[in-house]
Amino acid sequence: MEATHLFGNTGLSRHSSDGGASDELFARIADNLLVQGYSVNPLALPIELAAELQQHLCVLSAEKFKAAGVGRESEHMRNRFVRSDEICWITGESEVGRQWLAWAEQLQTYLNRRLLLGLFSFESHFAHYSPGDYYKRHLDSFKGAANRVLSVVAYLNNTWLPDEGGELVLYKDERDLVGLKVTPAFGTLVVFLSEEFPHEVLPATRDRYSIAGWYRVNSSTSDRSDPPR
Ligand code: OGA
Ligand code: MN
Repeated sequence: MEATHLFGNTGLSRHSSDGGASDELFARIADNLLVQGYSVNPLALPIELAAELQQHLCVLSAEKFKAAGVGRESEHMRNRFVRSDEICWITGESEVGRQWLAWAEQLQTYLNRRLLLGLFSFESHFAHYSPGDYYKRHLDSFKGAANRVLSVVAYLNNTWLPDEGGELVLYKDERDLVGLKVTPAFGTLVVFLSEEFPHEVLPATRDRYSIAGWYRVNSSTSDRSDPPR
């Protein structure tokens, strides 16, 4: 009672951008993953974190964004037919990068407890799609690869209008040709099982910024031992 009263007086919410802040969101994501394997959440990313990530995009000079690759030798193998965006890996060199990675780790911990997913590591990058850029229909991970198991995408674009394109289209399975369109609006967070949902990025009429991330399981527990014998 006292605590509730205090929060009311200060105008501060327990749902600030740190700590247990995102518990409600995490619970919703877990529920959605259990029922349908994906979760779409408008205005979900803690607003301060999203704003700082967005500001950081200005700091990342064009040279830090590299043409995105596809496949294993991604650094060397550019495939402009599949994707034409540019990416910048989030390494934790910057304060905001560390904040994002810490937040992603909170989600990892929560999902491991609730769903026993055994998520082991996380990697993510900023992506910049110039007008006309796209990422054709693809899967982030192939069945049995025991690699990327959970994909996360977050958007950092102010007021996105319906006729500006750039939607993420999430297909329910291999046969789905219609899909679910997600507007890449500021703070929207999408989470889905990497092996289950083909998806694509439609071309936009303006610059489009997103963060894409992937949780992996420890591959040494699957088809090969680590170190190999
Ligand atoms: C990806 C991806 C989606 C997006 O990078 O693998 O599917 O909306 N990104 O940016
Ligand atoms: Mn993808």
